[in-house]
Amino acid sequence: MLFFEDFLFLKTIGIIVKFLSHFWKMFKRLQQKWGINGTQFWVIFVVFGLTGITTAIITRYISGWLGLGVNSSWVRIILVRIVMLILGYQLVLLTYGGLLGQWAFFWKYEKLLLQKLGIIASDMTKDSRKPIKIAVFASGAGSNAANIIQYFANRPDVSINLIVCNKPGAGVLTVAEKNTIPTLIIEKERFASGDAYLPELKNAGIDFVVLAGFLWKVPIALINGYPNKIINIHPALLPKYGGKGMYGSKVHEAVIAAREKESGITIHFVNEHYDEGTTIFQANCKIDSSDTPDTLAVKIHDLEYAHFPKQIDKLLSAQTK
Ligand code: GRF
Repeated sequence: MLFFEDFLFLKTIGIIVKFLSHFWKMFKRLQQKWGINGTQFWVIFVVFGLTGITTAIITRYISGWLGLGVNSSWVRIILVRIVMLILGYQLVLLTYGGLLGQWAFFWKYEKLLLQKLGIIASDMTKDSRKPIKIAVFASGAGSNAANIIQYFANRPDVSINLIVCNKPGAGVLTVAEKNTIPTLIIEKERFASGDAYLPELKNAGIDFVVLAGFLWKVPIALINGYPNKIINIHPALLPKYGGKGMYGSKVHEAVIAAREKESGITIHFVNEHYDEGTTIFQANCKIDSSDTPDTLAVKIHDLEYAHFPKQIDKLLSAQTK
């Protein structure tokens, strides 16, 4: 009997765990599709909740004010509900969204709705020929930058417009030159404690920032200038082997020293902490007993080349939908 109860208990736990992991994956997928971080997700959730409750209350007041009751014509009742749903709900949604700091997120969807209804002109007519402009920040050899440039080379909708680098003489500058891409050399003081070169980025029309071997911490000024539009690639499976000082060969040395059986890459949104933004994508590779930091670096680079441009592409199309 006890055995049967134990079995039932374990089975229930199993179902709950399965349900939670399913919910977690769905939550992550939505976050990725909407291009938002975890906190934003919950704020948006609250905005929807508040909007539903408020719209219902307002509808009740309006119905009362119009004298609608059980004996009123159902056509009038439904008409009020439809108007409230189409107009009232959207207005309340935008109001709560704005009040809770999510105006940009909700306006993007409202705009789309208004465009579909033909109330405002579609961006497509204005911008359909305008590509999404990317700035790649890199300070090393730039093999990822080169791979990204090559991937998007024949794409009219995406263009790599700027290489930002903090190391004069870095290999990535040669990559930029070969591909005739403008470069911006930055210095620490202004980047970290000044305007983070936002004026230059905005003047160049940059829409999206990709860090590919960029080692400086990204300042809040840049994060605020490009909310959910800055991503990084890290050569390990975060949260392990990340953080300040964990870059390049140091990561691979630490992974090998810890006798890990696998390593990989993490593509993530950038926040104000090193390697801590929401994960977008991870891919793994096996580590053999004969692997050294150098051979592991090759495996990791191969993963980066195979996945980084594709993930950028996927994210851009999800964010512009
Ligand atoms: C890559 O391994 C990337 O994961 C890390 O820095 C390295 C840059 O390599 N952030 P490269 O300059 O693109 O060759």
